Amino acid sequence: MDTNLKQSPDIWSGKPLVSLMNHIVTTHHAFCRQEVARVGSLFKGVIARHGKDHPELKRMEALFSTIARDLLMHLIREEQTLFPYITRVEEAVRQNTAVSWPPFGTVENPIRMMVLEHDQTGEELKEIGRLSNDYTPPTEDYADLYDALRAFDRDMREHIHAEDDLLFPRAVAMEEEACARRKPAVG
Ligand SMILES: [Fe+2]
Ligand SMILES: [Fe+2]
Repeated sequence: MDTNLKQSPDIWSGKPLVSLMNHIVTTHHAFCRQEVARVGSLFKGVIARHGKDHPELKRMEALFSTIARDLLMHLIREEQTLFPYITRVEEAVRQNTAVSWPPFGTVENPIRMMVLEHDQTGEELKEIGRLSNDYTPPTEDYADLYDALRAFDRDMREHIHAEDDLLFPRAVAMEEEACARRKPAVG
């Protein structure tokens, strides 16, 4: 996890967007995929031992399952559609060539959807934070799960910051720059 990202947002300002997207995929997306499975199994163990007396654990698990399900699809949309398009736009600007219109019209449309999904995930994580008393384990038996949830929350904040605040505004500006070189839409 790159903890410098939030403290030093300018480290990406002069670098190609493709480098930032590679960083996002290899650190944050990889971390999400790894932790979704691990946290799921940690929940199962803690619920088996304490779920009967602590119904809030099941509520937290349900919230985390929703986050996991939505997030895995979200990552695929970024990796298979949005990021490759931003890569093509950046390449076109760099080589001063044309880029075809994407099926989604303009990059602002998928970005709007991604930001909404980030906000939704952020709200669900906030609720998990509230239910877990800000990830404070009531006994040592909860510690692995709560540590994993805290780390997941922290990584997600950095991940969302990297996209919402660093990548997306530059992608919109770059698409505007590429617009003058657009090929007419086909079909
Ligand atoms: Fe992402
Ligand atoms: Fe995202």
